[in-house]
Amino acid sequence: MTSERHYSPIDRLLLQADAALRTLLPFSGASGRPSPAVVLPEAELSTEESRHIAGLMRINHTGEVCAQALYQGQALTAKLPEVRSAMEQAADEEIDHLAWCEQRIRELGSHPSVLNPLFYGLSFGVGAIAGLVSDRVSLGFVAATEDQVCKHLDEHLQQIPEHDAKSRAILQQMRIDEEQHADSALAAGGLRFPAPVKFGMTLLSKVMTKSTYRI
Ligand SMILES: [Fe+2]
Ligand SMILES: [Fe+2]
Repeated sequence: MTSERHYSPIDRLLLQADAALRTLLPFSGASGRPSPAVVLPEAELSTEESRHIAGLMRINHTGEVCAQALYQGQALTAKLPEVRSAMEQAADEEIDHLAWCEQRIRELGSHPSVLNPLFYGLSFGVGAIAGLVSDRVSLGFVAATEDQVCKHLDEHLQQIPEHDAKSRAILQQMRIDEEQHADSALAAGGLRFPAPVKFGMTLLSKVMTKSTYRI
């Protein structure tokens, strides 16, 4: 893990730029685990169904872009080396989700959101600020964000037809991983955020989902 080594500020900047490019450039995220969808048959989907499912998968892909940026921002400013290392490990795991969602969006004949660089920048800033405030706030932010992601995944699993086994398998595995991320952030000392903060996060996520469903 990078946290064990001593990097100069310039090294860290280059590593951040590399992570941002790997998140934002098309086809650049190589997953460590194969997509749960690869072994499943492609469903016969109407044009309308494909368009709707691609919109939902685009939301999930942007969610993963945000997670990636949040973790990278937090890793930059985390105070404890073990928290920094946990953030970098989580970011690695999220790359799988990013790659699986992108692959599925392409299979459905669509593309990731053009707004991803904007959401990457915003989430990176939020992550870096949370890390500056304290590691407990930073970890609390991870837990609250992952809770939000789980809610989206549950809603999407209700909307995606049963016969689209590929999309469903991806979201089901993501649901398992995200719940684990939330639990380990709280176990590592993350603050449980009060309801008003969570409400603010829900509003922000609505802006993200409404916009990236379409573009
Ligand atoms: Fe994820
Ligand atoms: Fe996650």
